[in-house]
Amino acid sequence: MAMIARRLPQPRPEMAQLQPYRTQRQSADVRIQANEWPEPNPAGRYLSPAELDRVLLNRYPGRGDELRSVLADRWGVRAEQLLLGNGSNEVLLLVFLVFGGHGRTTLLFQPTYSMHARLSVIAGGRVADERVGLPYDLRADRALDAAARASAEIVVFTSPNNPTGNTIGDDTILAVAERYPDTLVVVDEAYADFAGTTLAPHIDRHPNVVVARTFSKARAAAGLRVGVLIAHPELAGYFAAAQLPYNMSALTLAVATHIARDESAVERRLAIARAERERVYEALQRVDPIEVFPSVTNFILIRVRDGDSAEAHGRFLAQSVLVRDVSSWPGCEGCLRISIGTPAENDRVIAALETVFAAPGRR
Ligand SMILES: Cc1ncc(COP(=O)(O)O)c(C=O)c1O
Repeated sequence: MAMIARRLPQPRPEMAQLQPYRTQRQSADVRIQANEWPEPNPAGRYLSPAELDRVLLNRYPGRGDELRSVLADRWGVRAEQLLLGNGSNEVLLLVFLVFGGHGRTTLLFQPTYSMHARLSVIAGGRVADERVGLPYDLRADRALDAAARASAEIVVFTSPNNPTGNTIGDDTILAVAERYPDTLVVVDEAYADFAGTTLAPHIDRHPNVVVARTFSKARAAAGLRVGVLIAHPELAGYFAAAQLPYNMSALTLAVATHIARDESAVERRLAIARAERERVYEALQRVDPIEVFPSVTNFILIRVRDGDSAEAHGRFLAQSVLVRDVSSWPGCEGCLRISIGTPAENDRVIAALETVFAAPGRR
Protein backbone atom coordinates (compact mmCIF):
# COMPACT_ATOMS: atom_id res chain seq x y z
CA MET A 1 0.00 0.00 0.00
CA ALA A 2 1.42 3.36 -1.03
CA MET A 3 2.20 5.73 1.84
CA ILE A 4 0.37 9.02 1.52
CA ALA A 5 2.51 11.94 2.61
CA ARG A 6 0.55 13.76 5.29
CA ARG A 7 1.08 17.24 6.51
CA LEU A 8 1.38 17.51 10.26
CA PRO A 9 1.33 20.49 12.56
CA GLN A 10 4.84 21.62 13.45
CA PRO A 11 5.95 22.73 16.90
CA ARG A 12 8.22 25.73 17.41
CA PRO A 13 11.58 24.92 15.75
CA GLU A 14 13.44 24.65 19.07
CA MET A 15 10.80 22.19 20.36
CA ALA A 16 11.15 20.05 17.22
CA GLN A 17 14.83 19.65 18.18
CA LEU A 18 14.27 18.87 21.86
CA GLN A 19 14.68 15.23 22.91
CA PRO A 20 12.88 13.83 25.98
CA TYR A 21 14.80 14.13 29.26
CA ARG A 22 16.88 10.97 29.51
CA THR A 23 17.08 8.94 32.66
CA GLN A 24 19.31 5.89 33.02
CA ARG A 25 17.02 2.88 33.15
CA GLN A 26 19.52 -0.03 33.18
CA SER A 27 18.77 -2.53 35.93
CA ALA A 28 21.31 -2.84 38.75
CA ASP A 29 21.34 -3.92 42.41
CA VAL A 30 22.85 -0.60 43.46
CA ARG A 31 21.10 2.35 41.82
CA ILE A 32 23.06 5.48 42.68
CA GLN A 33 22.49 7.52 39.52
CA ALA A 34 19.73 9.97 40.52
CA ASN A 35 20.77 11.59 43.84
CA GLU A 36 17.72 10.16 45.60
CA TRP A 37 17.58 9.29 49.28
CA PRO A 38 18.48 5.58 49.16
CA GLU A 39 16.53 4.10 52.12
CA PRO A 40 12.94 3.03 51.36
CA ASN A 41 10.42 5.65 52.52
CA PRO A 42 6.99 3.98 52.25
CA ALA A 43 3.93 6.23 51.98
CA GLY A 44 2.12 4.12 54.59
CA ARG A 45 4.44 5.59 57.20
CA TYR A 46 2.69 8.95 56.99
CA LEU A 47 -1.10 8.54 56.76
CA SER A 48 -3.22 6.39 59.08
CA PRO A 49 -6.40 4.83 57.65
CA ALA A 50 -8.40 7.52 59.49
CA GLU A 51 -6.34 10.30 57.89
CA LEU A 52 -6.73 8.70 54.48
CA ASP A 53 -10.48 8.72 55.02
CA ARG A 54 -10.35 12.47 55.59
CA VAL A 55 -8.78 12.99 52.13
CA LEU A 56 -11.94 13.45 50.05
CA LEU A 57 -11.20 12.69 46.43
CA ASN A 58 -14.52 14.04 45.13
CA ARG A 59 -13.48 17.57 46.15
CA TYR A 60 -10.77 19.71 44.60
CA PRO A 61 -7.78 20.04 46.92
CA GLY A 62 -7.02 23.08 49.06
CA ARG A 63 -4.07 25.43 48.53
CA GLY A 64 -1.74 23.68 50.94
CA ASP A 65 -2.05 26.41 53.59
CA GLU A 66 -0.97 24.13 56.43
CA LEU A 67 2.05 22.83 54.51
CA ARG A 68 3.07 26.35 53.54
CA SER A 69 2.76 27.58 57.10
CA VAL A 70 4.95 24.73 58.48
CA LEU A 71 7.59 25.36 55.83
CA ALA A 72 7.47 29.14 56.23
CA ASP A 73 8.20 28.77 59.96
CA ARG A 74 11.08 26.45 59.21
CA TRP A 75 12.67 28.70 56.63
CA GLY A 76 12.02 31.98 58.44
CA VAL A 77 9.80 33.46 55.72
CA ARG A 78 6.06 34.22 55.42
CA ALA A 79 3.57 31.65 54.12
CA GLU A 80 2.44 33.99 51.33
CA GLN A 81 5.98 33.82 49.93
CA LEU A 82 5.73 30.09 49.18
CA LEU A 83 4.43 28.53 45.95
CA LEU A 84 4.02 24.77 45.76
CA GLY A 85 4.64 22.56 42.74
CA ASN A 86 4.99 18.94 41.69
CA GLY A 87 8.69 18.80 42.29
CA SER A 88 11.00 21.79 42.07
CA ASN A 89 11.10 21.24 38.31
CA GLU A 90 7.52 22.47 38.16
CA VAL A 91 8.16 25.64 40.14
CA LEU A 92 11.30 26.24 38.07
CA LEU A 93 9.20 25.97 34.90
CA LEU A 94 6.91 28.59 36.41
CA VAL A 95 9.92 30.86 36.86
CA PHE A 96 10.91 30.56 33.21
CA LEU A 97 7.32 30.94 31.98
CA VAL A 98 6.80 34.13 33.94
CA PHE A 99 10.21 35.84 33.71
CA GLY A 100 11.72 34.12 30.66
CA GLY A 101 10.41 33.05 27.26
CA HIS A 102 9.67 35.32 24.30
CA GLY A 103 13.35 35.49 23.40
CA ARG A 104 14.43 36.51 26.91
CA THR A 105 17.82 35.23 28.08
CA THR A 106 18.74 32.95 30.98
CA LEU A 107 22.36 32.89 32.15
CA LEU A 108 23.63 29.51 33.40
CA PHE A 109 26.99 28.66 34.95
CA GLN A 110 28.10 25.34 33.45
CA PRO A 111 28.35 22.53 34.28
CA THR A 112 25.04 22.57 36.12
CA TYR A 113 21.68 20.82 36.39
CA SER A 114 20.56 20.27 32.80
CA MET A 115 16.87 21.01 33.40
CA HIS A 116 17.49 24.73 33.75
CA ALA A 117 18.46 25.00 30.08
CA ARG A 118 15.64 22.70 29.00
CA LEU A 119 12.96 24.56 30.94
CA SER A 120 14.23 27.88 29.66
CA VAL A 121 13.96 26.64 26.05
CA ILE A 122 10.54 25.06 26.68
CA ALA A 123 9.32 28.42 27.94
CA GLY A 124 10.57 29.97 24.69
CA GLY A 125 13.70 31.60 26.05
CA ARG A 126 17.38 31.69 25.08
CA VAL A 127 20.28 30.33 27.13
CA ALA A 128 23.65 31.99 27.63
CA ASP A 129 26.22 29.59 29.08
CA GLU A 130 29.20 30.71 31.14
CA ARG A 131 31.55 27.74 31.30
CA VAL A 132 33.08 27.61 34.78
CA GLY A 133 34.40 24.07 34.31
CA LEU A 134 36.14 22.01 36.99
CA PRO A 135 36.91 22.67 39.75
CA TYR A 136 33.64 24.60 39.89
CA ASP A 137 34.89 27.72 41.62
CA LEU A 138 32.52 30.57 40.80
CA ARG A 139 33.54 33.91 42.31
CA ALA A 140 31.75 37.25 42.28
CA ASP A 141 33.98 38.92 39.66
CA ARG A 142 33.42 36.10 37.18
CA ALA A 143 29.66 35.98 37.82
CA LEU A 144 29.38 39.77 37.46
CA ASP A 145 31.38 39.78 34.20
CA ALA A 146 29.20 36.99 32.79
CA ALA A 147 26.03 38.82 33.84
CA ALA A 148 27.28 42.02 32.17
CA ARG A 149 27.98 40.16 28.91
CA ALA A 150 24.73 38.19 28.86
CA SER A 151 22.40 41.02 29.95
CA ALA A 152 20.02 38.25 30.93
CA GLU A 153 16.54 38.57 32.39
CA ILE A 154 17.21 35.48 34.55
CA VAL A 155 20.46 34.32 36.18
CA VAL A 156 20.44 30.85 37.76
CA PHE A 157 22.77 29.68 40.52
CA THR A 158 22.59 26.11 41.79
CA SER A 159 24.03 25.91 45.28
CA PRO A 160 25.17 23.36 46.16
CA ASN A 161 25.70 22.68 42.48
CA ASN A 162 24.80 19.50 40.62
CA PRO A 163 26.95 17.71 39.39
CA THR A 164 29.95 19.27 41.16
CA GLY A 165 28.68 18.96 44.77
CA ASN A 166 30.07 22.27 46.08
CA THR A 167 28.38 25.52 47.09
CA ILE A 168 28.57 28.92 45.47
CA GLY A 169 29.31 31.65 48.04
CA ASP A 170 26.41 33.84 49.14
CA ASP A 171 28.60 36.85 48.34
CA THR A 172 28.82 35.78 44.68
CA ILE A 173 25.07 35.37 44.31
CA LEU A 174 24.20 38.51 46.24
CA ALA A 175 26.74 40.58 44.27
CA VAL A 176 24.78 39.77 41.09
CA ALA A 177 21.43 40.38 42.80
CA GLU A 178 22.68 43.75 44.08
CA ARG A 179 24.26 44.94 40.81
CA TYR A 180 21.28 43.85 38.66
CA PRO A 181 18.11 44.57 40.67
CA ASP A 182 15.89 44.14 37.61
CA THR A 183 17.26 40.67 36.82
CA LEU A 184 15.60 37.66 38.44
CA VAL A 185 18.24 35.72 40.39
CA VAL A 186 17.14 32.11 40.82
CA VAL A 187 18.88 30.02 43.46
CA ASP A 188 18.21 26.30 43.06
CA GLU A 189 18.71 24.90 46.58
CA ALA A 190 17.75 21.27 45.88
CA TYR A 191 20.75 20.10 47.97
CA ALA A 192 20.90 22.98 50.46
CA ASP A 193 19.70 20.83 53.38
CA PHE A 194 22.91 18.82 53.12
CA ALA A 195 25.05 21.96 53.18
CA GLY A 196 23.03 23.85 55.81
CA THR A 197 22.97 26.91 53.55
CA THR A 198 20.11 29.05 52.22
CA LEU A 199 19.57 32.46 50.72
CA ALA A 200 15.89 32.55 51.74
CA PRO A 201 16.47 35.08 54.59
CA HIS A 202 18.06 37.51 52.08
CA ILE A 203 14.93 37.75 49.92
CA ASP A 204 13.55 40.59 52.06
CA ARG A 205 16.54 42.80 51.22
CA HIS A 206 16.95 41.42 47.69
CA PRO A 207 13.44 41.07 46.27
CA ASN A 208 14.84 39.94 42.89
CA VAL A 209 16.08 36.66 44.47
CA VAL A 210 13.87 33.56 44.34
CA VAL A 211 14.82 30.24 45.92
CA ALA A 212 13.70 26.76 44.79
CA ARG A 213 13.59 23.89 47.33
CA THR A 214 12.60 20.24 46.96
CA PHE A 215 11.37 17.29 49.01
CA SER A 216 13.22 14.92 46.64
CA LYS A 217 16.62 14.80 48.37
CA ALA A 218 17.08 15.14 52.17
CA ARG A 219 13.30 14.79 52.69
CA ALA A 220 13.46 11.38 50.99
CA ALA A 221 10.34 11.97 48.88
CA ALA A 222 11.35 12.12 45.20
CA GLY A 223 8.34 9.96 44.36
CA LEU A 224 5.90 12.33 46.04
CA ARG A 225 6.82 15.28 43.78
CA VAL A 226 6.95 18.34 46.00
CA GLY A 227 8.88 21.49 45.23
CA VAL A 228 8.62 24.97 46.69
CA LEU A 229 9.45 28.39 45.32
CA ILE A 230 10.25 31.10 47.86
CA ALA A 231 9.69 34.59 46.44
CA HIS A 232 9.36 38.14 47.73
CA PRO A 233 5.70 38.98 48.40
CA GLU A 234 5.82 41.57 45.59
CA LEU A 235 6.82 38.89 43.06
CA ALA A 236 4.90 35.92 44.49
CA GLY A 237 1.65 37.13 42.91
CA TYR A 238 3.10 36.88 39.37
CA PHE A 239 3.93 33.21 39.93
CA ALA A 240 0.59 32.52 41.61
CA ALA A 241 -1.22 34.00 38.61
CA ALA A 242 0.55 31.59 36.23
CA GLN A 243 0.03 28.47 38.37
CA LEU A 244 -2.47 25.85 37.27
CA PRO A 245 -5.45 25.71 39.62
CA TYR A 246 -5.37 22.80 42.07
CA ASN A 247 -1.89 21.77 40.89
CA MET A 248 -1.11 19.76 44.05
CA SER A 249 -3.18 16.67 44.77
CA ALA A 250 -4.94 16.32 48.12
CA LEU A 251 -2.95 13.14 48.82
CA THR A 252 0.36 14.84 48.08
CA LEU A 253 -0.50 17.76 50.36
CA ALA A 254 -1.53 15.43 53.20
CA VAL A 255 1.67 13.35 53.02
CA ALA A 256 3.92 16.37 52.45
CA THR A 257 2.56 18.12 55.58
CA HIS A 258 3.64 15.15 57.71
CA ILE A 259 7.04 15.04 56.04
CA ALA A 260 7.51 18.78 56.54
CA ARG A 261 6.85 18.45 60.27
CA ASP A 262 9.40 15.66 60.71
CA GLU A 263 12.56 17.70 61.03
CA SER A 264 14.27 15.07 63.19
CA ALA A 265 14.15 12.64 60.24
CA VAL A 266 15.98 15.22 58.13
CA GLU A 267 18.60 15.70 60.85
CA ARG A 268 19.12 11.93 61.05
CA ARG A 269 19.53 11.67 57.27
CA LEU A 270 21.99 14.56 57.18
CA ALA A 271 24.19 12.84 59.76
CA ILE A 272 24.12 9.57 57.77
CA ALA A 273 24.78 11.36 54.48
CA ARG A 274 27.77 13.20 55.96
CA ALA A 275 29.36 10.09 57.45
CA GLU A 276 28.73 7.94 54.37
CA ARG A 277 29.92 10.65 51.98
CA GLU A 278 33.18 10.94 53.90
CA ARG A 279 33.65 7.18 53.78
CA VAL A 280 33.02 6.97 50.01
CA TYR A 281 35.11 10.12 49.40
CA GLU A 282 38.11 8.65 51.21
CA ALA A 283 37.82 5.39 49.30
CA LEU A 284 37.62 7.27 46.00
CA GLN A 285 40.65 9.37 46.90
CA ARG A 286 42.71 6.21 47.22
CA VAL A 287 42.01 5.38 43.55
CA ASP A 288 44.87 6.70 41.42
CA PRO A 289 43.23 6.80 37.99
CA ILE A 290 40.54 9.26 39.12
CA GLU A 291 40.29 12.82 40.36
CA VAL A 292 37.67 13.37 43.10
CA PHE A 293 35.88 16.69 43.68
CA PRO A 294 34.97 17.64 47.27
CA SER A 295 31.23 17.56 47.97
CA VAL A 296 28.87 18.83 50.66
CA THR A 297 25.92 16.92 49.18
CA ASN A 298 24.63 13.36 48.77
CA PHE A 299 26.74 12.74 45.66
CA ILE A 300 30.36 12.95 44.53
CA LEU A 301 31.78 13.90 41.13
CA ILE A 302 34.82 12.05 39.82
CA ARG A 303 36.89 12.50 36.67
CA VAL A 304 38.57 9.53 35.08
CA ARG A 305 42.10 10.71 34.36
CA ASP A 306 42.44 8.85 31.05
CA GLY A 307 39.05 10.28 30.09
CA ASP A 308 37.28 6.98 29.43
CA SER A 309 34.27 7.41 31.66
CA ALA A 310 31.98 5.34 29.40
CA GLU A 311 34.26 2.33 29.98
CA ALA A 312 34.31 2.92 33.72
CA HIS A 313 30.51 3.33 33.74
CA GLY A 314 30.22 -0.05 31.99
CA ARG A 315 32.59 -1.69 34.45
CA PHE A 316 30.52 -0.34 37.40
CA LEU A 317 27.43 -1.77 35.72
CA ALA A 318 29.13 -5.13 35.30
CA GLN A 319 29.35 -5.10 39.13
CA SER A 320 25.61 -4.22 39.21
CA VAL A 321 26.32 -0.63 40.29
CA LEU A 322 24.58 2.08 38.24
CA VAL A 323 26.23 5.51 38.48
CA ARG A 324 25.46 8.59 36.39
CA ASP A 325 27.52 9.23 33.30
CA VAL A 326 27.73 13.02 33.14
CA SER A 327 30.54 13.11 30.58
CA SER A 328 28.32 14.90 28.03
CA TRP A 329 27.56 17.80 30.41
CA PRO A 330 29.50 20.95 29.43
CA GLY A 331 32.95 20.90 31.01
CA CYS A 332 32.43 17.40 32.48
CA GLU A 333 34.27 15.33 29.90
CA GLY A 334 35.43 12.06 31.49
CA CYS A 335 33.22 12.50 34.57
CA LEU A 336 30.88 10.24 36.51
CA ARG A 337 28.57 11.25 39.37
CA ILE A 338 28.15 8.82 42.24
CA SER A 339 25.22 9.28 44.62
CA ILE A 340 25.64 8.22 48.24
CA GLY A 341 23.67 5.02 48.83
CA THR A 342 22.79 3.09 51.97
CA PRO A 343 25.81 1.97 54.02
CA ALA A 344 25.51 -1.52 52.46
CA GLU A 345 25.31 -0.05 48.96
CA ASN A 346 28.34 2.13 49.64
CA ASP A 347 30.24 -0.99 50.73
CA ARG A 348 29.41 -2.47 47.32
CA VAL A 349 30.63 0.68 45.55
CA ILE A 350 33.87 0.75 47.54
CA ALA A 351 34.43 -2.95 46.89
CA ALA A 352 33.82 -2.42 43.15
CA LEU A 353 36.43 0.36 42.84
CA GLU A 354 39.42 -1.94 42.66
CA THR A 355 38.00 -3.88 39.71
CA VAL A 356 36.54 -0.87 37.93
CA PHE A 357 39.76 1.11 38.03
CA ALA A 358 42.35 -1.70 37.94
CA ALA A 359 44.94 -1.65 35.16
CA PRO A 360 43.52 -3.49 32.10
CA GLY A 361 45.54 -6.67 32.72
CA ARG A 362 44.22 -7.03 36.31
CA ARG A 363 40.46 -6.66 35.83
C1 LIG B 1 19.81 20.95 41.19
C2 LIG B 1 18.51 20.24 41.07
N1 LIG B 1 17.38 20.93 41.07
C3 LIG B 1 16.19 20.33 40.98
C4 LIG B 1 16.10 18.96 40.86
C5 LIG B 1 14.75 18.33 40.65
O1 LIG B 1 14.11 18.12 41.76
P1 LIG B 1 12.57 17.74 41.82
O2 LIG B 1 12.54 16.27 42.06
O3 LIG B 1 12.13 18.53 43.00
O4 LIG B 1 11.87 18.14 40.56
C6 LIG B 1 17.23 18.17 40.87
C7 LIG B 1 17.14 16.71 40.76
O5 LIG B 1 18.06 15.99 40.63
C8 LIG B 1 18.48 18.83 40.97
O6 LIG B 1 19.62 18.15 40.94
